[in-house]
Amino acid sequence: MTAATARRPVVDRFGPLYPASAMALPVIPRLPMPRLAAPPPDVRNLSAHYRDHYGPHILREYPVGDSGDRIVVVDKAFPHSVYDMMLLATVGDDTVIASSVSDVPEAMLTTLLTFCGQFVRYVHASSTRRRFGLDGAQLMIGTNYDPSTTDRDNGQWWDKRMHWHLNCWPTTAYRDASMASLGDVNDVNRRRALVDPIAHLAARIMRDAIRTQPLPTGCRLADDTDLNPEGGPVGFKIALPGWDFLPDTTCARLLVHLHDVAAGAYAQLRRCFTGSPAASPPWTRPGLLPPGQVAANLDELTWLSEPARQGLRTLRSLLRDVTTGEMNLMRADMDLANRCLTLAGLDYHLGFWSPPQPGSSRGRAPVYLVMQFKLLSAIGSSPAIGGSVASILDRFRGPIMSAQQTRLRRQFQDRFLALLDCHTEGVNVSNRMPDAAMGTSITPEILAFYAHGAEQERLNDPRRHIEYLRTIDILTRHLPTAGIVADVGGGPGAYALRLAADGHRVHLVDPVPLHLEQAEARCADAESPLASILRGDARRLPLGSGSCDTVLLLGPLYHLTDAADRARAWAEAHRVLVPGGVVAAAATSRFYTTWEYLAKNLYDDPAVEAILARHLCDGQHRNPTGDRRLFTTGYFHSPRELAVEASTAGLRPHALLAVEGAAKLLPDLAERLRDPHRRDLLLRAMRRVEAEPSLLGMSEHILLIAHKPAPDSTTQETT
Ligand SMILES: C[S@@+](CC[C@H](N)C(=O)[O-])C[C@H]1O[C@@H](n2cnc3c(N)ncnc32)[C@H](O)[C@@H]1O
Repeated sequence: MTAATARRPVVDRFGPLYPASAMALPVIPRLPMPRLAAPPPDVRNLSAHYRDHYGPHILREYPVGDSGDRIVVVDKAFPHSVYDMMLLATVGDDTVIASSVSDVPEAMLTTLLTFCGQFVRYVHASSTRRRFGLDGAQLMIGTNYDPSTTDRDNGQWWDKRMHWHLNCWPTTAYRDASMASLGDVNDVNRRRALVDPIAHLAARIMRDAIRTQPLPTGCRLADDTDLNPEGGPVGFKIALPGWDFLPDTTCARLLVHLHDVAAGAYAQLRRCFTGSPAASPPWTRPGLLPPGQVAANLDELTWLSEPARQGLRTLRSLLRDVTTGEMNLMRADMDLANRCLTLAGLDYHLGFWSPPQPGSSRGRAPVYLVMQFKLLSAIGSSPAIGGSVASILDRFRGPIMSAQQTRLRRQFQDRFLALLDCHTEGVNVSNRMPDAAMGTSITPEILAFYAHGAEQERLNDPRRHIEYLRTIDILTRHLPTAGIVADVGGGPGAYALRLAADGHRVHLVDPVPLHLEQAEARCADAESPLASILRGDARRLPLGSGSCDTVLLLGPLYHLTDAADRARAWAEAHRVLVPGGVVAAAATSRFYTTWEYLAKNLYDDPAVEAILARHLCDGQHRNPTGDRRLFTTGYFHSPRELAVEASTAGLRPHALLAVEGAAKLLPDLAERLRDPHRRDLLLRAMRRVEAEPSLLGMSEHILLIAHKPAPDSTTQETT
């Protein structure tokens, strides 16, 4: 090796702030993160409203209380892991951005922590660990607070609403990563980004600030010696009684208390360093007071321990003012700005960490609350990210997620959401996604057709009530007696509410906002409310895989005119069903209309004859007349086709039944239904011929009952 290529000793001005043992800390200098194939072109979060920014990445929205506050679950466009997602806290109408644990209402914080606790339980569950290979996985649950450090790229472009990262790294994420000791990392900036030299000092100061204050029962300050227990993240730590502590108002209050203490201490330190406690505006730096003056100011802070005071004096000796020219340079180079000093405001990462445990001792693992501050300087970054080993997550140059990883990621998220849904009582789940966020769109004609609101009363119409009675009659005989039902295309909720009253837990999904409102209104008066009312599309259900015992498709198939779209709806029904689960799917018969239009004397209109001729030929129903009696854009099945579609999706049909049969052509149908005796006679008669293949096409609606086969050794499911 020549003298020119020999390694130069690393000169780090901030080196003196590292504790002696820091250079031995294990680190992963670069940990490539899997990327999504098509991330958004611009990550800058400049949209006024979170929905405009996150759009299709919004997985769910959960209202908290009645004042419009909500927790939004977001699928990160720049993942930290294959198994991650984000919780965003939005308050009121979202015009006020709540960033800290003390900005959000206590109910919101407690709910967020409850969701975090559910995430831990979910990841620890043996079924999750088995399915996704998460034994020994590392969890990172945390929030970043940096609202006023607007000159850092994190602060400037990314969301300042309070957001919690729910990350889980399987051991495979680390398997090929090359580990090093911090001392082996030669690039000073990289070294500081891995372990912030100021993090130890900041942790000590925070301990000083809170030392005399009582902590909740079961919580204790981690002392100096367990600053970095078992290789965990560097920072201020409080040992917690366990993960069960999270969904507790005591935990929410502790976080608020810590924030307030940190903010108070930080303001005092800023005054010592600059003469003012106020945060400086973006892209400005307040001048630093001379070192002697800073030392004198620090002496007045009696709560500071001597080592902390000494550390702060050293820090002042290492800091210098930034010139306007340098500021402009930083502004032009976000990478540089991200590494430079900031005196702008309080900035910390707050999270929960537990050392990875073997499966059997999981419940007894120590759990720490960790806070990592960027104290008066953002020269480092949050070393907790990456779990117990300090790592720099490279989210821009990692491999594109494989199809298998993408599928697993989606399953992982869906199953967690299903868990959240199940723990959210009553109609407190809603999903007001914009159309784009549903991943699919409903045609304007269909939306216009339903905008009239007629769906609400349709099944009460004397001649249409037979459809309701017969559908209930069939469902009662074919569905499991209780369980979780997804009523997809559930409209204003006629069947959903009836099944809820019968003891099922029903999630109603529909794409038409008016239907959701009508369902919500009906549900408010119901004794047995629905589990959730979700805006969604049959082709992309907002429900977890394997989360339902029953799926009802009583409507969507008539509106999906494209065979590929119907196939997607069937595939979604298959996905969300448990093995053995039942699907009840309705189609409208393409043959019935001939008789209906004749009976209603509509046939003599040539336009009507043309409509019929077309849908008799290929099932495609179009109604250019504007006459609402002729329905809207749709697809009318032949009975056999319905069973073929279901089988193609891997479902096993076991009954194909006429719903109304020819009963709708009885001239006195309404009277028959009003008389209980005659009604029962009619229903009994219909039951006897409901499955007769030669009569099926005569019925307006045909109902297919199928089930999802349980996987056997030869047909192992891969999804
Ligand atoms: C005739 S209504 C049936 C409503 C209810 N299931 C019933 O049987 O009374 C058809 C329903 O399907 C819904 N729908 C239309 N297109 C859909 C789609 N792509 N995914 C899910 N639902 C859809 C409509 O909003 C409407 O509520």
